[in-house]
Amino acid sequence: PVPLAVFVSGRGSNLRSILEAQARGDLGAEVALVLSDRPEAPALEIARAAGAATWSRPWPGREGRDAFFEEADGALGAAGCRLICLAGFMRLLPAWLVRRHPNRILNIHPSLLPAFPGKDAQAQALAYGVKVTGCTVHLVDEQVDHGPILLQRAVEVHEGATVEELSQRILEEEHRLYPEAIRLYVRGGFRLTGRRVIRAGGEATKEA
Ligand code: GAR
Repeated sequence: PVPLAVFVSGRGSNLRSILEAQARGDLGAEVALVLSDRPEAPALEIARAAGAATWSRPWPGREGRDAFFEEADGALGAAGCRLICLAGFMRLLPAWLVRRHPNRILNIHPSLLPAFPGKDAQAQALAYGVKVTGCTVHLVDEQVDHGPILLQRAVEVHEGATVEELSQRILEEEHRLYPEAIRLYVRGGFRLTGRRVIRAGGEATKEA
């Protein structure tokens, strides 16, 4: 299995779904290290309970950002990680780190990108009044919530929905989507044409 690093900041329900898929033998990858900017994050408890190694440092602020990510990158390199997943990680990666791991970082975001990037995507969707939103797993590039889209899943916005209710229903789809995206990634079941992810078997038209 491909050694995987997962960055987390909070609750860790996506990490849990990844670990569960791994335990079922259904991931093609193995969580080798879970990294966090919050040593008290519940996600780290989930990692430890599953026997995964953890690395965490309190967020050092803007001036300490590069040193934080240098150390984190050293740790995930030492663990042999070849794929990095952001799962509810609430810090932006520095561009140099993204460039060091081209097309090797995945992120999950609770909207159908390019709609509603950034924070509070579910609240943004409700406020805008869309009838359908969802979740996206994409490759991370140097812009926020922007890289090539691997998989998306749609979720209907019910009449009178609250942020909590909508977030919960999106989250249930996230829990299916992230393990599926990791599986797809490690099997190499796609190729990139510009920013388009072409799944194996789904033939692209000739490049313009
Ligand atoms: C998830 O909904 C994830 O998509 C979102 O934070 C939540 C983390 O939950 N991520 C972002 O909004 C990133 N911009 P979790 O800690 O239970 O996995």
